[in-house]
Amino acid sequence: MEPIVALCKRRGFIFQSSEIYGGINGFFDYGPLGSELKKNIRDCWWNDMVRRRDDMAGLESSIVMHPRVWQASGHVAGFTDPLVDCKASKQRFRADQLFFSAIVVDGVKVGYVSALESERTSEELQEKAEQFKRKKALQGQLEPVKPLDMTEAAADEIELIPSPATGEAGSLTPPRAFNMMFETHVGAMRDASSVAYLRPETAQGMFADFKAVIDTGRFKVPFGIAQIGKAFRNEITPRNYIFRSREFEQMEMEFFISEDDDWQKWHRYWIDWCRDWLLSIGLPASHLSEFDHPKEKLAFYSKGTTDIMFEYPFGVQELWGIAARGNYDLLQHQEASGVSMAYFDEAAKKKYVPHVIEPAVGVDRIVLAALCSAYAEEEVEGEKRTVLHLNPRIAPVKAGIFPLVKNKPELVEVADRLYRTLKRRYNVFWDTSGAIGRRYRRMDEIGTPWCITVDFDSLENGTFTVRDRDTMEQVRMTEAEIRALLDEKTS
Ligand code: GAP
Repeated sequence: MEPIVALCKRRGFIFQSSEIYGGINGFFDYGPLGSELKKNIRDCWWNDMVRRRDDMAGLESSIVMHPRVWQASGHVAGFTDPLVDCKASKQRFRADQLFFSAIVVDGVKVGYVSALESERTSEELQEKAEQFKRKKALQGQLEPVKPLDMTEAAADEIELIPSPATGEAGSLTPPRAFNMMFETHVGAMRDASSVAYLRPETAQGMFADFKAVIDTGRFKVPFGIAQIGKAFRNEITPRNYIFRSREFEQMEMEFFISEDDDWQKWHRYWIDWCRDWLLSIGLPASHLSEFDHPKEKLAFYSKGTTDIMFEYPFGVQELWGIAARGNYDLLQHQEASGVSMAYFDEAAKKKYVPHVIEPAVGVDRIVLAALCSAYAEEEVEGEKRTVLHLNPRIAPVKAGIFPLVKNKPELVEVADRLYRTLKRRYNVFWDTSGAIGRRYRRMDEIGTPWCITVDFDSLENGTFTVRDRDTMEQVRMTEAEIRALLDEKTS
């Protein structure tokens, strides 16, 4: 991750939020290039998911909703993570990310070790157990560690498990449920009656507005409601850069189907759609996999959830969840609000509360996946080049425009005209400083797919040198051909 984080900071993709004040954990800012990259991802999704389909309604619901929404949805009671406090260091850990093991020598328990979840949790626990045995000069056979997380610790084990913060036992508390919703107050009064929440997901906007969309839009089941927007979760341990943050952005869609429809068919359809879409923005198939949540871990109303996983540098992690949620959410809102969520199906001549398939993904996780898989350090003619092989659809800058030299007004004039024309439609970058090779390298590093150089031949025959970022090949093209190329590859 280190070179990627450094590049993002150096070139203005991503900054720590409020960095001048030391930063605030779990919050990030997207700089000039990062905001373009993110916008391109959002736009691709919106175009493919909403505009190019006939069965999709777009929505932009409010971030703060009536607090009863979150009671009905179950978030007030149950949107919790198990939290363990370390009383000595005042640090907090997610219980399911804090692992421990008994140290067993010749079949006898002699102590405990702990480690925070990582790619090497088991190895770290084993190393700590070996150190413990050496330090205490214990003789006998050390058994391999058996990692468990703190939610699995027996009550009498908790005080024996060392805190990862201090290395000493006795300071960890038993896990308790910690609600991750950010609370706020609406209006001038700050009492229990004014409590509201920053939404922890965009999905409830689609359920709460289901009736309004149906009544105003002439949509027929099966159809979907999609939205992109910020979500907020007071994560106990935000980590892995923008992978798990406290303020993030979701792209969610609720696809409503008939109660008699084959939910498995639709579930599969949306898993495939999501995977194909990730490929269309350039994520490599080799980094994608699927994970089916085990039946016994699903919520009682859930029929099935499949996650599309991505191989990040810190491990294979959830990118996109596709859940078959039955009609639980609409029924909950129907009961809590007293407003019927029933839909009259004219073809089937019956009324029912539709079931739903929900593909939910975080924009920030896609940004990170795109950056991680695009980043490369390559050797070109004995020199190192850092390059982002970003797909042209999402690349923040689509082309660099360079007059070959900056002191020939006739070249600059033609280049400027090309730049201004292309800029009306695409985010292109003007660069006159330094040798062409250095200008190429600067564009490679931010993932610009093409560099267009205006040279003396351009004045003669109206063609320009177009250099491809990935192959580094150069061809001559007219302005019309350049526009056709950009149009085809970036839309
Ligand atoms: N409405 C369903 C829902 O919100 P989720 O699995 O909790 O499901 C959906 O979240 C997606 O949102 C995740 O797959 C992930 O991509 C993204 N996401 C969740 N928590 C996140 C966080 N703390 N930081 C960044 N992205 C997050």
